[in-house]
Amino acid sequence: MIPVNRPLLISGEGKYLAEAIKTGWISSEGPFVKEFENKFAAYVGKKYGTAVSSGTAALEVAMGAIELKAGDEVIMPTFTIMSCAVAVVAYGGIPVFVDSEPDTWNMDVSQIEKKVTKRTKAIMVVHIYGHPCDMDAIIQIAKRKGLIVIEDTAEAIGAEYKGGYRTVPFKGKKCGTFGDISCFSFYPNKTITTGEGGMLLTNNKKFKERADRLRDLGFIQEKRYYHEEIARNYRMTNIQAALGVAQMKNIKKLIKIKRGYGKLYNKLLANIPGLQLPVEKPYAKNIYWMYGIVLDKSTGFNNETFAKKLALQGIGTRPFFYPLHHQPVWRKSEYRAVKERNKDSFPVADKIAKQGLYLPSGLGNTEEEIRYISATIRKLLKS
Ligand SMILES: Cc1ncc(COP(=O)(O)O)c(C=O)c1O
Repeated sequence: MIPVNRPLLISGEGKYLAEAIKTGWISSEGPFVKEFENKFAAYVGKKYGTAVSSGTAALEVAMGAIELKAGDEVIMPTFTIMSCAVAVVAYGGIPVFVDSEPDTWNMDVSQIEKKVTKRTKAIMVVHIYGHPCDMDAIIQIAKRKGLIVIEDTAEAIGAEYKGGYRTVPFKGKKCGTFGDISCFSFYPNKTITTGEGGMLLTNNKKFKERADRLRDLGFIQEKRYYHEEIARNYRMTNIQAALGVAQMKNIKKLIKIKRGYGKLYNKLLANIPGLQLPVEKPYAKNIYWMYGIVLDKSTGFNNETFAKKLALQGIGTRPFFYPLHHQPVWRKSEYRAVKERNKDSFPVADKIAKQGLYLPSGLGNTEEEIRYISATIRKLLKS
């Protein structure tokens, strides 16, 4: 079976791991943690980094850093991972969902403003599958309404926004530079990986200090074991950070490979009736994090039936996100407010969630695999 992802560890990771072991620095106190924070923050273009144990933890710590309170609302796409909503409800907040754009699959910017109320505290932007959101429009709304912007950049490390419209070479601003806080994941299917891991980046000193404290059980420096707020242990270990420091050496190369795989799929899957491919808007440098496709109903397939066909040919896939507005957990009494607040319809997200899936497109997958997968899809859809 061709897996949907294989990580690519080509940066001397073993040497860095061995150093962590040899020196005995295996916990979060080790020196690679700071080094990774500094290198990653400098690469993206933010002042401060706070490494944590996962992307999910990064989002939750971000909600704590902005001091989200019970009843506060955070606007986010319905088509995203559960982590986004979990972070908000962890503080008693209410996620408010927005439908998707049919071509980029990102949150539909034109629907954000009407979701803003007196209780809205932040907009959580998610660059879905590596395609940047239209940040100018989002930042304008946030400024006008006095909202904080949280950027979930887990899937868009290396993606860029706005480069003077198709300038060659495209020179945009990196995703992750726009948010008051931006959050990242380093799970093995991400552009760089630490096995499990995540990071928050910010230019705001207060957010940085709060993030450092909230990843660390809420410890305060002045008085040990004295807690003024509830926080968990979301620290990243030196072993994880050793992987991160190693991977930073080749980050540009890894992004190039990712984009190359996306473009190869674009070429090999072009012009198949009923098959929608990822786009790259004029304002965007897409990194094609995971290569998604959406099947028109006229093909006779949905994502489940097509995934089964591909599995028979030895090809692993994943369905698109199950939209947040459909998550059964909101039926529980303690989360009923989420259900009550999100009674609108979300037709685009509903459609892509049924008809969309993503193909093997990890850094460790090969060109040969992509050629085989593309030829198989062409054959299946032709017949
Ligand atoms: C958009 C997005 N945000 C957050 C996360 C959560 O990251 P993690 O798996 O490291 O908790 C993911 C994970 O895939 C993601 O895709």
